Amino acid sequence: MINRPRRLRNSDSLRSIVRETILNKEDLVYPVFVKDGQGVKEAISSMPGQYRFSVDTLKTECEEVVKLGIKSILIFGLASHKDDTGTESHNPNGAVQNAIRMIKKDFPDVVVMTDVCVCGYTNHGHCGIVHDDYVQNDETLKVLQNMALSHAEAGADIVAPSAMMDGQVAAIREILDKNSFQRVSIMAYSAKYYSACYGPFREAADSAPQFGNRATYQMDIGNTREAMKEIDIDIAEGADIVMVKPAMLYMDIIAKAKERSLVPMAAYNVSGEYAMIKAAAANGWIDEKRVMMEMLLSLKRAGTDLIITYFAKDAAAEIEKLKD
Ligand code: PBG
Ligand code: ZN
Repeated sequence: MINRPRRLRNSDSLRSIVRETILNKEDLVYPVFVKDGQGVKEAISSMPGQYRFSVDTLKTECEEVVKLGIKSILIFGLASHKDDTGTESHNPNGAVQNAIRMIKKDFPDVVVMTDVCVCGYTNHGHCGIVHDDYVQNDETLKVLQNMALSHAEAGADIVAPSAMMDGQVAAIREILDKNSFQRVSIMAYSAKYYSACYGPFREAADSAPQFGNRATYQMDIGNTREAMKEIDIDIAEGADIVMVKPAMLYMDIIAKAKERSLVPMAAYNVSGEYAMIKAAAANGWIDEKRVMMEMLLSLKRAGTDLIITYFAKDAAAEIEKLKD
């Protein structure tokens, strides 16, 4: 007798009832870039379809995002003034803080997440305070605390520390709790690798390091066990959600992490991963929508609960189409 798995592939309906993994709009987190000013909507050349917004134009964007059924947004800020210590990162009237207040007022059902890192705010472009050409861990924790607190005060639901400083989750949990923000969650960029795939983002956020690189704080790309260690530490420090970044190239890490931890798993489908698909599609070499949906579904299949992706709007539109 021939064993016949093909029997369950005979029609759309049959395939749909035995499908193991389905991508939902709730799985998608939409990253946005915000800066001071009015009427700003600047295209980011290495990320086709992505823009830098001012708060007013972000409002129009949010209307679209909500209409598409996306539930959560991750906000990144661009600085108007950079200095040694990234002071603007915790300005209560900074672009990010203003954007948070706008969204919570006009779109109260949207879950607002914020990136907590100073590389966009420091004149040297590193993710922390630099002395002697070295990013100083414990001194940086204080700035990250101030930044996270200012986001919580503006109304953020989830703060997401991405600086890869040791102790950043505990430090942020402590300052939030001390200021009665027990309700604010922490999504930790736990296993954030020293990847070559962040290039377009650094153009978008103007956050490239001006000397050296990020190898002394981001994770070595060869390491799996170290990622598990970072995740365990962050959960012990109070992370509510942990993240692997990048996503597509690190699905083995996502799958392993999902097996060992009980908190929701996020993956960051980063700018370089977005740009690769966009560039190939623009050349007519791949079917953009199908590759996009396959990649996102694969991330979910690997164990991702939340996918941070610049494709969020397009994916939500595709999911809607599938309903017909
Ligand atoms: C800031 C930060 C970066 C990204 C998210 N937060 C850049 C970096 O570490 O240089 C990258 C996101 C992307 O590439 O889409 N620490
Ligand atoms: Zn950074």
